[in-house]
Amino acid sequence: MSDDTALKRAYTIDTEPFYLDSGDEIPLFEAAASARLPIMLKGPTGCGKTRFVEHMAFRLKRPLITVACHEDLFASDLIGRYLLKDDETVWVDGPLTRAVRMGAICYLDEVVEARKDTTVVIHPLTDNRRTLSIEHPPALRGPLLRLSGAG
Ligand SMILES: Nc1ncnc2c1ncn2[C@@H]1O[C@H](COP(=O)(O)OP(=O)(O)OP(=O)(O)O)[C@@H](O)[C@H]1O
Ligand SMILES: [Mg+2]
Repeated sequence: MSDDTALKRAYTIDTEPFYLDSGDEIPLFEAAASARLPIMLKGPTGCGKTRFVEHMAFRLKRPLITVACHEDLFASDLIGRYLLKDDETVWVDGPLTRAVRMGAICYLDEVVEARKDTTVVIHPLTDNRRTLSIEHPPALRGPLLRLSGAG
């Protein structure tokens, strides 16, 4: 199994989460998904928003990546960042990038709590552009620090 397939499996819901619909939210979600439109869910705590998204991910056979948004969440927490690994810097996808790459549903829980710089990242994904821009500073593309054998 390739790494991509294994990752996709890890985010796939295998058993149907029970969801009792209260209106036409299921066909609405399906229509939005086929038109690649984002959806905003609003409702009091416990009304079934999370369960609905889980149910729809199962129904649409799409992986589901959930991000709990809060005021300390930065754009780089969503997109990804370079991290040091051995003597190299390696790019590590954030949950939003991972979701885009694998065609997953990305559920931004409590998105109203998110900082402005994180919502700026989400705009080009949710408007007509449907793209996620990742800026890799050229200086960081290759090995940044050589730690081994230093001294
Ligand atoms: N329509 C529904 N069908 C089936 N179960 C439901 C439904 N609505 C709520 N539940 C039940 O209520 C529980 C809480 O729902 P859920 O976690 O989806 O709420 P929420 O709207 O995401 O709340 P919060 O805003 O606190 O995150 C679920 O785990 C599920 O057991
Ligand atoms: Mg919830």
